[in-house]
Amino acid sequence: MDPTPSTAADSTAMESSRDRTPLGALGVAERTQADATPVEERDVVFDCQQVGVRYSGTRALRDVDLKIHSNAVTALIGPSGCGKSTFLRCLNRMNDLIPGAAVDGQIFYHGEELYQPQVDAIEVRKRIGMVFQKPNPFPKSIYDNIAFGPRVLGMKKDLDERIEQTLRRAALWDEVKDRLKEGALGLSGGQQQRLCIARALAVEPDVILMDEPCSALDPISTSAIEDLMLSLTNDYTVVIVTHNMQQAARVADMTAFFSVDQGETGTRCGVLIEVDRTERIFTNPAHERTEAYVTGRFG
Ligand SMILES: Nc1ncnc2c1ncn2[C@@H]1O[C@H](COP(=O)(O)OP(=O)(O)O)[C@@H](O)[C@H]1O
Ligand SMILES: [Mg+2]
Repeated sequence: MDPTPSTAADSTAMESSRDRTPLGALGVAERTQADATPVEERDVVFDCQQVGVRYSGTRALRDVDLKIHSNAVTALIGPSGCGKSTFLRCLNRMNDLIPGAAVDGQIFYHGEELYQPQVDAIEVRKRIGMVFQKPNPFPKSIYDNIAFGPRVLGMKKDLDERIEQTLRRAALWDEVKDRLKEGALGLSGGQQQRLCIARALAVEPDVILMDEPCSALDPISTSAIEDLMLSLTNDYTVVIVTHNMQQAARVADMTAFFSVDQGETGTRCGVLIEVDRTERIFTNPAHERTEAYVTGRFG
């Protein structure tokens, strides 16, 4: 959509993702995890129980029961309008900011109910960062983009070091270290998106949510972001929405398939059909609706 110049580092990232062993028709990546614990046995970061959302009284999502485990990538897939973004926004209380949106059910974040009145939504969004479809750097320098969150939160100690570490984590340091004071908007689309990921990482989150983070990027930048997602699972829990099934197959440990049912008043309503290990979702799903979707028989 928005062709951006590639860089040497982007091409290197492309090579490394090509090297992965394909598994199954969609090229499900063989994961080499530092943590050998099976995903389902890792800590439960989010335990969602009967989660639903209404917009101005109209139900858009209902009855989502889903556990999201730590240090893994969980992908949310499904047809347009099935509530993937709506559900993702439940996880860091972003729906609080949407007029008319009302969340029901319960979400336990590390065992604590996220929607209790005493929970500070600002603190929640610091712990659970979000990256959007279109890279949205501030019209400030590269340095100031990353420094923004730490400054607001009073994390001013060793700021230069924090910025370097954060940019390294986001696989961007080598490309920007000599131009930290230059404007972020001068970066390529793919670099801007890695900058936005770095900006989210700068305040030491626990979880990174990404809503179609590659859909505005060219294939090489996409590959760089996918590699980054995989490396982030050493330290973070990652939840992505993607409309690209190959992407889910490449990066996700677990995949949740959402679809659309007729709602209470005849309106269309998003539902979770199933969640499982990614390779099972793509090769041997439990539900016929999932199979129809992943094999392209249903849009
Ligand atoms: N801010 C909003 N106000 C009203 N309805 C919304 C809003 N955001 C999403 N919806 C509706 O909720 C449903 C799910 O949307 P969304 O979560 O964006 O789906 P997806 O991300 O899977 O494409 C759709 O019917 C959409 O029109
Ligand atoms: Mg969406």
